Amino acid sequence: MTEAAALDRSQAATPVPAPLLSVRNIEVVYDDVILVLRGLSLEVPQGAIVALLGANGAGKSTTLKAISGLLKTEDGEVTRGEIVFDGERIDGTDPDKIVRRGIFQVMEGRRIISDMTSLENLRLGAFTRSDRKVSSDIEMVYNYFPRLKERTGLAGYLSGGEQQMLAIGRALMARPKMILMDEPSMGLSPLLVKEVFSIIKQINRDLGVTILLVEQNARAALSVASHGYIMEQGKVVLDGTAEELRDNEDVKEFYLGGAGDQRKSFKNLKSFKRRKRWL
Ligand SMILES: Nc1ncnc2c1ncn2[C@@H]1O[C@H](COP(=O)(O)OP(=O)(O)O)[C@@H](O)[C@H]1O
Ligand SMILES: [Mg+2]
Repeated sequence: MTEAAALDRSQAATPVPAPLLSVRNIEVVYDDVILVLRGLSLEVPQGAIVALLGANGAGKSTTLKAISGLLKTEDGEVTRGEIVFDGERIDGTDPDKIVRRGIFQVMEGRRIISDMTSLENLRLGAFTRSDRKVSSDIEMVYNYFPRLKERTGLAGYLSGGEQQMLAIGRALMARPKMILMDEPSMGLSPLLVKEVFSIIKQINRDLGVTILLVEQNARAALSVASHGYIMEQGKVVLDGTAEELRDNEDVKEFYLGGAGDQRKSFKNLKSFKRRKRWL
């Protein structure tokens, strides 16, 4: 066999692996009437960090809650489409069952329990587990976040950065296959953002945990993600590799350029319309 033929054959023998998570054309409605997601699709490959970006109100948190099942606690429902995780449909499944299947959401605003200690918060993260490795995993979390070990008081007294670290640490305690992170950079100083994102990258590399990262801070998210999706008004309007998105002129202008409140909608852009390869 020639080298080329061998290469050909080896390529043919390698099937494209199914993504760990597929969200297919979902619609989400709150309170039976408020349509928030309008045909949203995205994929997250096993072991990847994928960023979901967009302005406030675009529907990013709703997307994460649809995946984790937490929508139910807010009177929201997936009314169309499907969500497939690790080969099985999970839309409509209760949130605790979804945790057991291996998805853990780190909520926006951290949601740690402020009148418990860090250690108690970490133990809570392991609520689905019956194995004996919980103590060694607490040590693992302390290795990533040494400051948490030093702060023995109530979690409510931790700084914003420390609370974010605790929220991520608590997710790790569930030993999830996938973590959904909702705006981990929110309220943190630029230096802390850098620190938290570098640990996110490390966790992904060391533990192989797949991460879907929701952010308004596109720059920080694209510095660790391999792929990104940009959403507006309940839909994905652009997606690509992190590199493609960083180089895209519209993304630069609207999401990386510090345009702040001057930011217009992607939809109003002629150049953007030309690039709408996703429609
Ligand atoms: N529990 C809820 N009930 C009704 N509407 C909601 C609820 N949560 C979010 N929304 C609406 O859905 C839209 C998207 O919200 P959200 O998913 O939080 O966006 P993002 O996370 O991108 O800022 C907003 O218009 C918001 O007002
Ligand atoms: Mg949000």
